[in-house]
Amino acid sequence: MDTVSLQSRRIVSGMRPTGQLHLGHYHGVLKNWIKLQHEFDCFFFVADWHALTTHYEDSQIIEESVWEMVIDWIAAGIEPSAVSLFLQSKVPEHAELHLLLSMITPVSWLERVPTYKDQQEKLKEKDLATYGFLGYPLLQSADILIYRAGQVPVGEDQLSHVELTREVARRFNHIYGREKDFEEKAEAAIKKMGKKNAKLYSNLRKAYTEQGDADALETARELLKGQQNLALGDSERLFGYLEGGGKVILPEPQALLTPASKMPGLDGQKMSKSYGNTISLREPEQAIAEKIKKMPTDTNRVRRTDPGDPDKCPVWQLHEVYSDDAQKQWVQEGCRTAGIGCLDCKGPLIDSVCAELKPIRQRAEDLSAHPEDVRRIIEDGNEAAREVARDTLDEVRAAMGLSYK
Ligand code: TRP
Ligand code: SF4
Repeated sequence: MDTVSLQSRRIVSGMRPTGQLHLGHYHGVLKNWIKLQHEFDCFFFVADWHALTTHYEDSQIIEESVWEMVIDWIAAGIEPSAVSLFLQSKVPEHAELHLLLSMITPVSWLERVPTYKDQQEKLKEKDLATYGFLGYPLLQSADILIYRAGQVPVGEDQLSHVELTREVARRFNHIYGREKDFEEKAEAAIKKMGKKNAKLYSNLRKAYTEQGDADALETARELLKGQQNLALGDSERLFGYLEGGGKVILPEPQALLTPASKMPGLDGQKMSKSYGNTISLREPEQAIAEKIKKMPTDTNRVRRTDPGDPDKCPVWQLHEVYSDDAQKQWVQEGCRTAGIGCLDCKGPLIDSVCAELKPIRQRAEDLSAHPEDVRRIIEDGNEAAREVARDTLDEVRAAMGLSYK
């Protein structure tokens, strides 16, 4: 595959190591990663620096969570042979790119990212008026741009960070993508595509630059992605030339919105450590059963003989995740007619959650028994990531005039 389509098939995503993973992470993020791992060239990493921006005073939790999180990922079904798994702080190129991007990023862009104020409000007990926390989304931009990823799987709450990444990339390309004789070089690159494609490219480019035909722009991009014989530099020029600018050194990534998880916490709110309503991926069966048995139900159903309303019950939300149609029917009818009790209703859920977590817990135990294997997986991933990251950084340094000989 040529370099450009390789890049657009590249996916980057990170997770902050701030505690044990639970079913919310599994249904919300990990299952999606597991699906993507065979469809894309995936770079998944432990965002330990990002965790430090909010947990700088209790960094011990980060230290404890890093390896456990990798174990949970693999236990849940991430295949180390199919993806690159690595640790952010072991790829210092992220930090250098973050620094370089900080030179061109207006402070106001960072201040207006919604998570900046939101998180400060939400985590009032922490002092998040730090330089590091303001830079959180820019560090994330560096994480993404250093791999020139095409797509970034994120939840709704992170969309503004991908948007910032796009703006920063655009500004970078605008400032540093200029080169002497850009047009001549671009025209020469067009010829390298062969007569037919060269003509097609030129016509599409014209349709976009002169008439603003967005479809033509898309078609031209697809055409470029299919060009096996173009050198990376030429390809970057031709992508840039389409929009009239200079070279595209840092391509703008797309957000790949992760479908919102339906997985509720034990109290019906979102499952989250801070609400104390989680079932962890390694929860023992005994504890799973106890937690589910203790779940609140429809508060109007006081006695066993009172009919209830599943729509007012967090247990029903779990059935929505775990039960097939027949079982859901059984709950609806049994609840509304008082035909079943709440403990009856919870029984099959205990079974389903136990069945889901059993192989995960087992694999996690096996991995924990061989920490050196986990270390090696991450070392390999760090190396693979650094190789890509170094290439990008070389180009970035050159574009900024920093490749002194
Ligand atoms: N900020 C992300 C979160 O809290 C984690 C993250 C860090 C990330 N760097 C990233 C996600 C790069 C995607 C790409 O979930
Ligand atoms: Fe909730 Fe099930 Fe009890 Fe109805 S029977 S109130 S759905 S736990």
